Amino acid sequence: RVNLAVEITGLTLQNPVMPASGTFGFGEEYAPFIDLNRLGALVVKTITLHPTPGNPPPRLMEGHCGLLNSVGLQNPGLEIFLREKLPYLRRYTPPLIVSIAGRTTEEYAELAARLSEAEGIAALEVNISCPNVKEGGIVFGTVPAMAARVTAIVKEHTHLPVIVKLTPNVTDITTIARAVEDAGAGAIALINTLQGMAIDIERRRPALANIVGGLSGPAIKPVALYAVWRVARAVKVPVIGMGGIMTARDAIEFLLAGATAVAVGTATLVDPGAITKIIAGLENYLTEQGLADVRELIGALQI
Ligand code: DOR
Repeated sequence: RVNLAVEITGLTLQNPVMPASGTFGFGEEYAPFIDLNRLGALVVKTITLHPTPGNPPPRLMEGHCGLLNSVGLQNPGLEIFLREKLPYLRRYTPPLIVSIAGRTTEEYAELAARLSEAEGIAALEVNISCPNVKEGGIVFGTVPAMAARVTAIVKEHTHLPVIVKLTPNVTDITTIARAVEDAGAGAIALINTLQGMAIDIERRRPALANIVGGLSGPAIKPVALYAVWRVARAVKVPVIGMGGIMTARDAIEFLLAGATAVAVGTATLVDPGAITKIIAGLENYLTEQGLADVRELIGALQI
């Protein structure tokens, strides 16, 4: 038997494959299809301090090789998360990673403080990379000093490990990665979606009411892989790689590029069993290659 376990910022994951935030809701919709206890971690939809309705429809568009979304952080807010979602998620054994976003640094601080008092949360993922909101979101993730400030403020308000999720919509993602590492990030997750648009020529209107959306799926895989490779070489903290991972082969590419763990987003919308298939495929690959430990793959790209 091969070892699939990895460690990220003090958390032991039984395997390095987890859902990407936003495509997994709060787990309830996936439980009928897969055994959530087999996942490396559970990662919930980004929550905000107050209930958020998100952007007006249409806000989801399926393209040739990717998905464009302008959801706008729709979520039930902190109170309902704590009261209704967290008790459900606590039944499962994988570490629970709660993604948070604020419109201001104070909101990030309050979310961090409140969630740290709750039972059953293993880590916070600080989303500074949502392309679909006017306040907060990507504005915090595109300027190194802002990214560092949000990270530092969250760190001040929690004892939990802090993972910071980065956007690819920047000139140099390694600068942002170094800034959040210096500010105390225990791990870095990348990439969030790539900004894009689509046009409906019949209506002669943008396909999304919000005009801009975030592109995910196979279309962004090379962008994500390159970003992960560069960031993994630029920082000492572990990297959680994501962006267009559909199969075990894709996941292995990210591990070779230097990711310690990977997250699966769009693929789970196509096939709820995608994550568990990727875990099985990864295990098979290790066995076939005669490797006893998944950690032998991490950053093992031969240049
Ligand atoms: O593409 C994204 N969509 N990234 C996020 O971080 C949030 C999500 C949304 O709700 O708009």
